[in-house]
Amino acid sequence: MKEKIVPPEKNDEIVATYDRVEQVALREGLGAEQDAYYVAIADQFEHEWYGSREADKRYASDLQEMADAVDAFARGDLLEVGAGSGHWTIRCLNAGARVTVVEPSETMRSVTRRRLTSAGKTARLMLGRSEAIPLGDHKMDRCLMAFVLSHLDGATRDATFKEIARVVRPGGELLLMDSLREPGDPGVLVVRRVVNAQPFRVLKVLHKPEEVAAMIDPVARVQEMKTLNHAWVLRARLV
Ligand SMILES: C[S@@+](CC[C@H](N)C(=O)[O-])C[C@H]1O[C@@H](n2cnc3c(N)ncnc32)[C@H](O)[C@@H]1O
Repeated sequence: MKEKIVPPEKNDEIVATYDRVEQVALREGLGAEQDAYYVAIADQFEHEWYGSREADKRYASDLQEMADAVDAFARGDLLEVGAGSGHWTIRCLNAGARVTVVEPSETMRSVTRRRLTSAGKTARLMLGRSEAIPLGDHKMDRCLMAFVLSHLDGATRDATFKEIARVVRPGGELLLMDSLREPGDPGVLVVRRVVNAQPFRVLKVLHKPEEVAAMIDPVARVQEMKTLNHAWVLRARLV
């Protein structure tokens, strides 16, 4: 039997659950706390997230599937939204894409910058958010957004898909990956994460890939979706 992991990260303490994302609004101060978390966690993120999962065989096949999906996807002018520590950025560059990153956390962008420098690679790193992407219309061929959707409230999520459809050319492609909502999981959680003894509340909206397919329907058609052990991958074409 597949082992069920709730909360989604080992040390998460669930502080609130909701049925629907509309019931929780980042404007209640949660957005600022979540942003502060991604500023505080930047130097540890790669180690705590990928380091622990690479060492954990429950996640190994998911990480491999995601890496394969990124390798098959990455080419042309690629926008990566919420690149974090640049884990997938490097992969996209290695696969031959020209990458533009839009990431709100300055500390995360510096981690990516250091990583690019030591790999001898270049990418355009921009300060920005998924719901207001600082790029002109139809400038990009593709967009990758990994483990960001689960941090967005309903209004931000809708604005995000509109923005992606605006900056990626019609016929361009979208690759989304994120944590899986498994049977019995609450859909929406606010969890407490602690960085250097400081607690931050973070929103996690756990989706099934079919729900994501319905969300993107106004702007994109699904080409492929895969449910993994603890995550999902969805590739779609912008209309
Ligand atoms: C869980 S990390 C994922 C990082 C990377 N995509 C990965 O898969 O390793 C989430 C990232 O999304 C960023 N983020 C949060 N809200 C965002 C938003 N509205 N637009 C763009 N990025 C956002 C955070 O700063 C953080 O770097």
